[in-house]
Amino acid sequence: MARIAVFGAGYVGLVTGACFADLGHDVRVRDVLPERIEELTAGRVPIHEPGLADVIERASDRLSFTLDAADALEGADFAFIAVGTPPTYSGDPDLSAVWTVIEELPAATRVTLVMKSTVPPGTGDKVRRALDARGLGDVVYVSNPEFLAEGTAVRDFMRPDRVVVGAFEPEHVEPVAALYEPLGSTIVRTDVASAEMIKLASNAFLSTRISFINEIASVCELVGADVIDVAHGIGLDPRLGPHFLKAGLGFGGSCFPKDVSALKQLAGNSGYHFQLLSAVIEVNELQKRRVIQKLGKHLGDLHGKRIAVLGLAFKPGTDDLREAPSLVIAARLVAEGAEVRAWDPVADARHLLPDVTFSASVLDAVRDTDAAVIVTEWPELADLASAEVRDAMRTPVIIDGRNLLDPEAARALGFVYEGVGRPGPSETAR
Ligand code: UGA
Repeated sequence: MARIAVFGAGYVGLVTGACFADLGHDVRVRDVLPERIEELTAGRVPIHEPGLADVIERASDRLSFTLDAADALEGADFAFIAVGTPPTYSGDPDLSAVWTVIEELPAATRVTLVMKSTVPPGTGDKVRRALDARGLGDVVYVSNPEFLAEGTAVRDFMRPDRVVVGAFEPEHVEPVAALYEPLGSTIVRTDVASAEMIKLASNAFLSTRISFINEIASVCELVGADVIDVAHGIGLDPRLGPHFLKAGLGFGGSCFPKDVSALKQLAGNSGYHFQLLSAVIEVNELQKRRVIQKLGKHLGDLHGKRIAVLGLAFKPGTDDLREAPSLVIAARLVAEGAEVRAWDPVADARHLLPDVTFSASVLDAVRDTDAAVIVTEWPELADLASAEVRDAMRTPVIIDGRNLLDPEAARALGFVYEGVGRPGPSETAR
């Protein structure tokens, strides 16, 4: 069994560390935030990630937390970098947390440094040069991008579709690949730049599918087609597959927006204009704003109207608000002069949306509103179209940004219902 240091106790670092400990390795996770390490040491899990607390508890004998880089690295065979690489104003990711880890490696460190953080192709080369310049030629560098989706991260780690391991020297691949051997998935053995590219291209392709189906949904609305049936019909072609064809309010989160932009910028910085990704980004921006038009269609001027924004997290199963469509939608509504009531079962957006009123229950949020918008498809919202909700609202208008409800059932109860890319009442009445 190996000794593993993990830098970064965010959702990637924690899941990676906890799962490796669960597989029998001795893991020490290091973070720079004292309160985070305190919480973890006290046995509390600071993020909302289903199943993670159980794994941490199960593996607690082999899992520890520290603020000290040297402590984490002591005796380590592998050091995983799982720090954040947030976007900067230029669209390039901010790699400063990655560089800090490199700078903190003590002299004479002999470890295999494994990059899990998402970094643009070319980063591995730069890190290699920096290591050599610091006299750390014995540190082996390997790229091993993560494919963990929030909300299913533990399952994604334990049952991966594939594991990608890229190294400068082919013989450096195997020790890292061996860590994943018990999981029994396909291991892609490649060079560092290709491993880095696989990660960005995967996220960019998934984002492209989402923007594609969102554009199809907009056309469906114009021609009276139903995007749910269209996506189903498309997805049955095995060359296309059914995944990531859910029309909605666009993609958010800490990964897709950042990675699409990073790939576009990387191409641009290298002299190539990645046209397709520019469109993917633009469609995604417009998609959030279409909600405002739909509300306007039913309510007229939004000034003084009371609107419930239901679901704030960028997707269900997480409390993550990074790049959440809800933030844009709520801020646009406030800018239009609407009064916004928001509800989410776990995400706390009070610091991000100072002009919004927050409700503890769905019923509270919709009471006396002129319309309710489903922004995140939390299961709690699946029975939103009820007589109780209808009677509580001032006007029973539901804009279903995630196609969560059954349009017929909602309309039968007296709601004015509009989804994304679904036929309106006149078309369904045909
Ligand atoms: C995504 C990828 O799915 C992971 O494979 C990857 O490892 C991760 O980014 C990362 O780079 O770290 P995540 O951002 O957690 O994971 O969430 P997804 O479930 O992929 O959803 C992303 C966004 O797309 C959400 O806002 C979701 O609502 C939206 N989406 C997804 C759609 O609008 N339609 C779909 O059909 C699927």
